[in-house]
Amino acid sequence: MAVIREPAQDSKAPQPPREATGRGSAAGPPATFGQLLRARRQQLGLSLAQLASRVHFDRGHVSKVETGKRPPSVSFAEACDRALNVGDTFTTIATALEAAARQQQGWVRPAQLPAAIHHFIGRRCYSRQLDKVLQGDEQSLAVPVGVINGPPGVGKTALAVQSAHRAINDGHFADGQLFVNLRGPGRRSAAAPFDVLEDLLRALGVPAEHIPATLEQRAATFRSVLHGREILLVLDNAADVQQILPLMPGSSGCAVLVTSRSRLPGLISLVGAVTLTLPELTRPEAALLIRSIIGDARADTDPAAVEVLADRCGDLPLALALAAEHIVSHRHHSAGTLATDLKPEHARLDLAAGDVVLRQALDASYQALDKQTARMFRLLGLLPRYAINAAAAAATAGVDEEDASRMLRTLASAHLIRHHGERHYQVNDLLRAYAARLARQLDAAPERTEAMSRAAAFYLR
Ligand SMILES: Nc1ncnc2c1ncn2[C@@H]1O[C@H](COP(=O)(O)OP(=O)(O)OP(=O)(O)O)[C@@H](O)[C@H]1O
Ligand SMILES: [Mg+2]
Repeated sequence: MAVIREPAQDSKAPQPPREATGRGSAAGPPATFGQLLRARRQQLGLSLAQLASRVHFDRGHVSKVETGKRPPSVSFAEACDRALNVGDTFTTIATALEAAARQQQGWVRPAQLPAAIHHFIGRRCYSRQLDKVLQGDEQSLAVPVGVINGPPGVGKTALAVQSAHRAINDGHFADGQLFVNLRGPGRRSAAAPFDVLEDLLRALGVPAEHIPATLEQRAATFRSVLHGREILLVLDNAADVQQILPLMPGSSGCAVLVTSRSRLPGLISLVGAVTLTLPELTRPEAALLIRSIIGDARADTDPAAVEVLADRCGDLPLALALAAEHIVSHRHHSAGTLATDLKPEHARLDLAAGDVVLRQALDASYQALDKQTARMFRLLGLLPRYAINAAAAAATAGVDEEDASRMLRTLASAHLIRHHGERHYQVNDLLRAYAARLARQLDAAPERTEAMSRAAAFYLR
């Protein structure tokens, strides 16, 4: 363990007895963190077990820190400061020790978060929940994990990045932030954890020649490098749980934020994640998003048209942002003219700005479906706006009800349809237009007609 000079003492700071440090005078030989800790504990008449229970670390951990066999983490030091009522004495020491260790080991403090977006709108209640996750639970040894899932383009990444920046500004995760695009939802396009771990280890300063050759070893090295550090890991666009698990840190000073178009079934039971499902914006928030991009002057010329435009965009942030950017880049367009252009549902799919096209953003979710479920989704696009259940879907697709029920669950998990009550589902206008366009492209006319007739017969019955 590193030997440190005792920090300046104040009235609250521990006053180790001479025999504990061997210190002859106030300016005597340096004491270690462990020696100071033991001295203060003994001064208060606490046993190892009593201190362990106050700081919520196990007795063995406290003993190893006291004897210098284990370096103190900053979170351990914070707990000691609180438990022993010594201001920030131990935190100061542990922070210095960590800084020294970092320098010695060529520790790199990664700062990979992308910039937060300029005008972030709404999401207060979701932000509060994520703040709580990122603040962590002092009593828990588990790594806090927050998952944001929701439909394509609903603002999952924007919310994760916003929350991460807020936590950092509040002084959390002093050892850095890691951000990875996991390229979900399709399994084929998704980043392999093996490669992701290589990038992460490099970002943490591990030289290429020390990066192990197997997935398990890489994952173990990643956890080792993170041990004792306070790092925030943002896993954006996760495909599934298998992709995420090898990337999980092991130490509770770290935290993880995951975004995914999938509900990631299984993650809650495996890592105890706090899961938020992000809906579209409220109508006033959607109108505000358009206003924040096109500016007050243009919005004020026809506020009602801004609301209609928000409605035509289904209050979906991606569609809203693309629509607003379209207005900004076409001087003669207004919210009113664009809202009129977008009256036909299929026209909304072609909203685009730069190289982002709304339809293509949806493709990734569709392409991740198995063949049968993809066909079911296309056929659902041909139905009117009714709520559908497994029986209706089975009739439309000409499959048995059990299969239909499984496919509906898959579609709901991918946020391509949504629950409407316990047994019913609904497809929103944008996704229905998207599914219908695919059906017209991929399913022959007779097959579409038959599906519609089966659906009509079902509803008549
Ligand atoms: N709360 C918000 N306020 C303002 N703009 C937002 C907000 N949420 C999202 N946006 C904008 O909407 C667009 C889509 O957001 P984002 O990329 O976060 O969606 P996503 O759900 O992560 O999409 P994907 O499913 O493709 O990963 C971006 O241009 C983003 O800036
Ligand atoms: Mg995203």
